[in-house]
Amino acid sequence: MIRKVCVIGWPVAHSRSPLIHNYWIETHGIADAVYERLAVKPEDLAATVTRLGAHGFIGANVTVPHKEAAFAALSRHDAVAKRLKAVNTIVTTAEGLEGRNTDGYGFIANLKDRAAGWHADKGPAVILGAGGAARAICAALEDEGAPEIRIVNRTRARAEGLVRDLRLKAGRIYAGADAAAALKGAALLVNTTTLGMKGESEVTLDLDPLPKTALVTDIVYTPLETGLLRRARDRGHQTVDGLGMLLHQAVPGFEAWFGVRPQVTETLRALVLADMAGK
Ligand code: ATR
Repeated sequence: MIRKVCVIGWPVAHSRSPLIHNYWIETHGIADAVYERLAVKPEDLAATVTRLGAHGFIGANVTVPHKEAAFAALSRHDAVAKRLKAVNTIVTTAEGLEGRNTDGYGFIANLKDRAAGWHADKGPAVILGAGGAARAICAALEDEGAPEIRIVNRTRARAEGLVRDLRLKAGRIYAGADAAAALKGAALLVNTTTLGMKGESEVTLDLDPLPKTALVTDIVYTPLETGLLRRARDRGHQTVDGLGMLLHQAVPGFEAWFGVRPQVTETLRALVLADMAGK
């Protein structure tokens, strides 16, 4: 029997998950596996997720805008998905379908991969934004031992909701105007907002208060070097782009579905970059 896995989104045409997983399927010589795109309207999401097996799928990835709805549709979750109330990976286990969330894992693995010696316990982390991606990243940074997590968001109430829902122990909220204070003494700066994405305006935050030793990263990867990363590089900061988070978040799902832990390599990175250049 063919082991089918899919990425569920709406729209889903832009997703690079099929490229990544089919590359690993090929390089590992897994002859009986295939990874597909599945465009699912919001009103059909719950039925699709709960009947994955009936449609011939052993697992799935879930992307925008379905991560929270997929959490709600499933009755079993791992600890991370439970904390985030969002699912990006679905696995068939002996007990049935289980929702997991590997976004935070992907974020941390990317930094460890691209910034040798980096560790979350080096100092306070500043997070720009308070959406779904920020939630996954804050939880992962706390789990990794970040001593303080400073959230800078345009809408203060949303940042408060994040700290409350995740029960962040060392979460501090900074309104947009206090951003300079947030940067003082920080060891990590992360952009999780859509600012800097192709066609959007850039992050305009003044980086002067940020110590030169701070690592700067962006989860936006189109373009690969956002205005924020360029400004940080010009100031002498070490920077890490967001493409690796996408690649690394795919690793635990592939391992759970097919029993092999795949590698994030320069070849895979180049493959995804070439695909992005062609679009
Ligand atoms: P995701 O789930 O990918 O994280 P999201 O939930 O839509 O996306 O969150 C987007 C984040 O980008 C939010 O923190 C949003 O700020 P608000 O909470 O104030 O809406 C932030 N964002 C988007 N556009 C922005 C802009 N023009 N200026 C500042 N922040 C912006």
